[in-house]
Amino acid sequence: MGVKIVDTCLRDGHQSLFATRMTTDEVLLALKELDQVGYHALEVWGGATFDACLRFLNEDPWERLRKIRKVCKNTKLQMLFRGQNILGYRHYADDVVEKFVEKSIKNGIDIIRIFDALNDLRNLEAAVKATKKYGGECQIALSYTTSPVHTVAYYVELAKKIEALGADSICIKDMAGVLLPEDAYTLISELKKNTKLPIELHSHCTGGLCEMTYLRAIQAGVDIVDCALSPLSGGTSQPCTESLNAALAGTKYDPKLNVKYLNEASAKMMKVKQKYLDNGLLNPKVLSVNPNILKYQVPGGMLSNLINQLKSQGASDRLDEVLNEVPNVRKDMGYPPLVTPLSQMVGTQAVMNVISGERYKMVPKEINEYLHGKYGQAPAPVDEEIRHKIIGDDKVITYRPADDLKPEFEALKKEYKGVAKSDEDVLSIALFGDVALKFLNQRNADAIPTKIKVKA
Ligand code: CO
Repeated sequence: MGVKIVDTCLRDGHQSLFATRMTTDEVLLALKELDQVGYHALEVWGGATFDACLRFLNEDPWERLRKIRKVCKNTKLQMLFRGQNILGYRHYADDVVEKFVEKSIKNGIDIIRIFDALNDLRNLEAAVKATKKYGGECQIALSYTTSPVHTVAYYVELAKKIEALGADSICIKDMAGVLLPEDAYTLISELKKNTKLPIELHSHCTGGLCEMTYLRAIQAGVDIVDCALSPLSGGTSQPCTESLNAALAGTKYDPKLNVKYLNEASAKMMKVKQKYLDNGLLNPKVLSVNPNILKYQVPGGMLSNLINQLKSQGASDRLDEVLNEVPNVRKDMGYPPLVTPLSQMVGTQAVMNVISGERYKMVPKEINEYLHGKYGQAPAPVDEEIRHKIIGDDKVITYRPADDLKPEFEALKKEYKGVAKSDEDVLSIALFGDVALKFLNQRNADAIPTKIKVKA
């Protein structure tokens, strides 16, 4: 059987290229055609798409999902889920995790890709359990990174545990695009030997390696790869769907996608791309190759965040120092993979260490909590001297962090019964607080007929 393709153009594609600003109308523009292509799935939803809908587009992310589902009759819909962080940035109580999974599936999601920044599987348990309970397909992603502890053996052990946890498939999530072709070949060969689960690969073109890495992964037997329709591909995004389909056509790996529908969808989405090129949200810089990420091992999004943070502090000239400090902070913290929210935390700490002139003189709240064990277990031991400098003799928790969290959902539902018209609204508030409230208040006000509005 050929390689299966997941197209990311409606999630990671625009998230990587123009800050997730695609509107629902633009998402729907070529959806009928995309639904005919023959994909394994379309990735359509995740933390940034949800956040950007509420924060920047004044749109209801749940409504977007329902509209997509209505059009997609043939293709599975996939979302990205940050374990106990759901789509947000902190740990939520188990009841919120379960309710979010339930509502995601009921509103149209088929496959939930669940990951934890630290690969601490305890942070995935609640989401995995809920996905299975509500009949969703459960994929667990390994956050891929390089470090002395992130060896092939480490990932094989993790994959075995993932299989035991009841996942339906495994994804290697190479958010930074640093997986080298031969490493991919070795890693996937070993994973295929040691688990029965289908393996998917997700990487980025940022460093100029991704097409080579995908080819070696395919030769090693990878089952599914993540690509993006041409207008949303390349640069900091995924490899181009049409090109990979052409490269493999006629071989035993042939994905057998429908070229006619691919071309029709591309022509439509090219107009969307042009709009973002014209309005400047799509900076042509992100479309070119940046081999520096291989040296610094930081995801493209993190690199642009660091540049912005330094610029706002008038310290743009200190980028090299900060980039050299990032691996030191990572080592001190026990080599966390640099993915949300750890990428932001490690990046901010590196900036503070450089700007303040003394390492760990200033520490963000999140790093402080991390050192208390509140994000879960670090892949390797953290530097105890630095931990002591920051949190003194405070107790460090070793149990599952969410065990400390009391149920949240019913209390929120009661508190916001005026503004939240559905459980979906309550979940938006649970995850995005004031941002969601501002959107919902506006939506509710707009829904009142003009006559009554004038009276009030
Ligand atoms: Co990605």
